[in-house]
Amino acid sequence: MAIDMRVDLAGVSLPNPLVLASGIWGSVAGTLVRAASNGAGAVTSKSCSLAPRIGHPNPTVLHWGHGFINAVGLSNPGAHVQRQELARAHEELAPTGAALIASVFGDTPQGFADAVHVIAEAEPELVELNISCPNVESEFGRPFALDPDAAARATEAVRAVYAGPLLVKLSPNAPELVAVARAVVAAGADGLTAVNTLGPGMLIDLEARRPILSNRVGGISGPALRPVAVRCVFELAGAVAVPIIGTGGVSSGHDALEMIMAGATAVGIGSGLYCEGDGIFRRVLEEMEQWMEQEAVDSLDEIRGCAHG
Ligand SMILES: Cc1cc2nc3c(=O)[nH]c(=O)nc-3n(C[C@H](O)[C@H](O)[C@H](O)COP(=O)(O)O)c2cc1C
Repeated sequence: MAIDMRVDLAGVSLPNPLVLASGIWGSVAGTLVRAASNGAGAVTSKSCSLAPRIGHPNPTVLHWGHGFINAVGLSNPGAHVQRQELARAHEELAPTGAALIASVFGDTPQGFADAVHVIAEAEPELVELNISCPNVESEFGRPFALDPDAAARATEAVRAVYAGPLLVKLSPNAPELVAVARAVVAAGADGLTAVNTLGPGMLIDLEARRPILSNRVGGISGPALRPVAVRCVFELAGAVAVPIIGTGGVSSGHDALEMIMAGATAVGIGSGLYCEGDGIFRRVLEEMEQWMEQEAVDSLDEIRGCAHG
């Protein structure tokens, strides 16, 4: 039986549903292409702003046993430098069939629009707005993703300068997640990525008697996030009619299928790649296909959203 793993993500055809999540392998063409060559159906670049950012000093990422806590602080070379690297990535990704998703953030709606305006010249297949980073609150204030109006303003500002496929990345920390999703879809989002990291959280070094991360607090990802992410995808899929990249703690075929059953169109992998390396994409795909074969499921469309009953 031939299993069809292709998915349509906001009008962009992906060879399979697995997506490299933003921030895990940076934005260097070589690593993005490496993820695609090892089985990712789409790759997301590290979030980029108009101006370069150094980010927080180390320590910024810690594996604590049930996932990661991170406060990298959105370090990036700025949109003008990133545009060149992403243009190269776009060209080199073509033979793999994988799509390039360019992640962008700003401190104001206009900041989002200005950065997207520059990055769009690299011709990524999709743009993803990171309105949900919990690690820069002391600098930028509350993430846009926590408030439907603020989230809509950032989306609208980008829509005014960019006509291509647009994803908005949501936060598991939003008290009114569905209201935020409805607001960004009404403002022009073609799809959602759910979710960014949970928290913020904190861990303390007993010897130093201080928080471990230099930023003190950071976002939680990996296995500890997964049940929250699945619930978010389930709620969103029941409320909006746009495709969702279900992201959070996925590290097996079982986890990826769970996201699809919750209603996700595609499935993001971030922390799992940190732990296992680039073999994770092929392994997860094989495990998905094995289960589908056993259950006589020919395509992901057959099971997408089935958990809703
Ligand atoms: C070290 C690290 C850096 C991250 N940087 C970004 C980023 O720049 N932009 C973004 O939208 N998400 C970023 N994320 C969040 C991931 O893309 C993803 O949404 C989250 O980690 C949940 O997925 P996971 O459990 O598979 O890692 C980062 C996550 C980690 C662990």
